[in-house]
Amino acid sequence: MSNKTIFCIGAGYVGGPTMAMIAHKCPDYKVIVGDIDDARIQAWQSGQPPIYEPGLAELTRSSIGRNLFFTTDIAKGIRDADIIFVCINTPTKSFGMGAGRASDLQYWEKTAREILEHATTDKIVVEKSTLPVRTAEAMERILRSRGGKVRFEVLSNPEFLAEGTAVHDLEMPDRVLIGGHETEQGQAAVRELAKIYSRWIPQERILTTNVWSSELSKLAANAFLAQRISSINSLSALCEETEADINEIARAIGMDQRIGAKFLKAGVGFGGSCFKKDILNMVYLCEFYGLQEVADYWAHVVEINDYQVDRFVRNLLVHLFNTVADKRIAVLGFAFKADTGDTRESPAIRVCRKLVEERARLVISDPQALENARRDLADVADRIEFEPDPYVATQDAHAIALLTDWAEYRHLDYERIFKGMVQPAFVFDGRNLLDHHKLYEIGFNVYPTGKAPMSHL
Ligand code: UDX
Ligand code: UDX
Repeated sequence: MSNKTIFCIGAGYVGGPTMAMIAHKCPDYKVIVGDIDDARIQAWQSGQPPIYEPGLAELTRSSIGRNLFFTTDIAKGIRDADIIFVCINTPTKSFGMGAGRASDLQYWEKTAREILEHATTDKIVVEKSTLPVRTAEAMERILRSRGGKVRFEVLSNPEFLAEGTAVHDLEMPDRVLIGGHETEQGQAAVRELAKIYSRWIPQERILTTNVWSSELSKLAANAFLAQRISSINSLSALCEETEADINEIARAIGMDQRIGAKFLKAGVGFGGSCFKKDILNMVYLCEFYGLQEVADYWAHVVEINDYQVDRFVRNLLVHLFNTVADKRIAVLGFAFKADTGDTRESPAIRVCRKLVEERARLVISDPQALENARRDLADVADRIEFEPDPYVATQDAHAIALLTDWAEYRHLDYERIFKGMVQPAFVFDGRNLLDHHKLYEIGFNVYPTGKAPMSHL
């Protein structure tokens, strides 16, 4: 039994689900989640999480009011806690030195000062947000700046959950990583945190390292994952020129156990709040340490991603007879991946903006992300329709641009859709989700990613 209290600062995509899982698995810990955003807190409190994530509402409701609580009172949360998780966002800096690449750490520093101000007993402070390597050092300096009696031990415990599968990833993670100092107090704090995870995660999956390895491992994991996507996407361009098929290549190389089969799906490019931000952050760090060649190497992963999006738009334009002006284009999917309403860094944003520049008439459909889509494209929204029903969205369209791999798009009645479209009808499959042969037989001109086009023209 533990009578410990956990406080988490930041009730977003990372903090909310992670704390819901800890509360669920550890009913003897009191888990409080704080956020400055009142609307977010109210949504969590009502048992209807502010983010869409399969299984999350049920998970939250299993503990809410029992040992899981939500609050905007950050000061009290800090005071009462034994362990404080920091899960606030660290966006890319938009101003000054390192703008566009470095992490904006202003909220992070503000949070460290807040912890210092309100803490009256010893605390373990856990960095869960993804941060530049050696951020823990800066945090420790702030926390120790008053030299008072309260002791703080800072740990790094990055989160590897992916959106859409957050509940599964939290319940059965490949590993949990805990970085701590190699001092007696540091190791005691590591054991305290490991104790929580060991309630449901096998011991051999709980890795402990030094703080800096843990911080950098998170950036490295995201960089490697993104690099695989850029690698397969770069080859998809070569496939389109040579009639090789990118899915067949992914299968052939993925069966080599040294390469592995996952994360080899070619598409319109990666999105999400992490990959681009974390790589750019790593690029900035490398430059800071004078490692220009290393910085350039990783910067290319992001450049290929932008190239892939631009290539998608160029293909669409070329095959629609070099003009989309006044043509109705149905965009199926706006979220950065399936099973989430999240649109942060979604390739769909860039695709839609470019199509609007070309004066296309866009109609965007998505089962979960239309509200975010409206916000992302607010400045051009008067030229766009937002339509939840894919059959209405595709009615009278010249082309379909499929941008998110929602399973339900695979099962639409494409015969019906074809009949409602302007002829010749086109499908540009930016996720290689659809049955291309079937679409071709129905009469569509089909443009997959990384495969030869199937055209009746
Ligand atoms: C974010 C980062 O994107 C990710 O890199 C990092 O690993 C964890 O933090 P996410 O949970 O997706 O992940 O961010 P977001 O959904 O924006 O949630 C952050 C929350 O922190 C927001 O609800 C925001 O209101 C809150 N916050 C931010 C505070 O409560 N206080 C602050 O000072 C700043
Ligand atoms: C990622 C990491 O997977 C996770 O470990 C980390 O904690 C946060 O960042 P997330 O961004 O939620 O998670 O989703 P992920 O499944 O990794 O997909 C990221 C993007 O890559 C999506 O746009 C997805 O469509 C794309 N992707 C993924 C591909 O284009 N091809 C693939 O084979 C896999």
